[in-house]
Amino acid sequence: MLLRQAGSCWIGQAPAKVNLFLRVIRRRTDGYHELETVMARVGLSDTLLFVPTTDAGVKLAVQMAYPRSLGALPVPETADNLVVQAAQRLKAFADASAGVKITLIKRVPAAAGLGGGSSDAATTLAALNHLWRIGLPLGELQRIAAELGSDVPFFLAESPVALCTGRGEQMQSLSPRLSLSLVLARPEAGLVTAAVYRECRPEPDGPTAGRLCDGLRGGAVGPVAQGLHNTLQTPAERLSPMVSIVRAAFERERFLAHQMTGSGTAYFGICANSRQARRMAARLRAAGIPWAIATSTLI
Ligand code: C5P
Repeated sequence: MLLRQAGSCWIGQAPAKVNLFLRVIRRRTDGYHELETVMARVGLSDTLLFVPTTDAGVKLAVQMAYPRSLGALPVPETADNLVVQAAQRLKAFADASAGVKITLIKRVPAAAGLGGGSSDAATTLAALNHLWRIGLPLGELQRIAAELGSDVPFFLAESPVALCTGRGEQMQSLSPRLSLSLVLARPEAGLVTAAVYRECRPEPDGPTAGRLCDGLRGGAVGPVAQGLHNTLQTPAERLSPMVSIVRAAFERERFLAHQMTGSGTAYFGICANSRQARRMAARLRAAGIPWAIATSTLI
């Protein structure tokens, strides 16, 4: 995430992510699933503005900034929003008189597997750690982040690409030598993460991320494209026929490779370059996909 100070305020950019690889290994007794996943932050971000207040409250205002074609996706301004939960957790460490007004400008579609809410929460932890002068070390912020959600710690990590294990909260940074040109798309309907995991069939002996990670480290797009995998795509397509419709639209174009991200319903394709990504995004929109944009992975 990118944070900068403007007077007494802080402004953060909270990027989305895609899962280039996601293998569900097994169900755990705590209700989560053991994963092997490669997450990569991308160039599409929400913006958060943090303004200190004299009263002790945490207030959130959300401004929707993504196309109306996706309908009115609900982004709560209450404690249901991870941003408010992140602020309240940190407040337990801060001066009781500290308060904040947060404005969240939402560009990353919700219920999409793009990690928007998790990234917003991570940015909130990092920003308020400065704004309220709490000074928690990164390790402690990561611990709070993992309590908020399995992929929140990834958004606090320095490296924008990581191999994540456990329930997704244990990270090994990758140093990618290439930025992937992508098209991101999302059908109108979203999916609830827990429902998709409930439907999935774990793959204890499924493919591993080794080849894809080598491709990223070596700057070779071929092994990355060939190494894409997502256990959650089959159950997501069972739950939402719209994911299959988006897949079919991607199959009609000449992507190097494509798949759903996270628990869906957003979908991405890898292109040879950014010009091709812009052209493919326009073609998908023309074909009736409500939201399709060109972006790239961060390095
Ligand atoms: O960690 P997070 O709150 O984002 O997870 C949302 C839900 O997704 C969990 O309650 C769980 O049902 C499911 N999940 C899972 N295994 C994971 C991550 C999430 O089953 N590794």
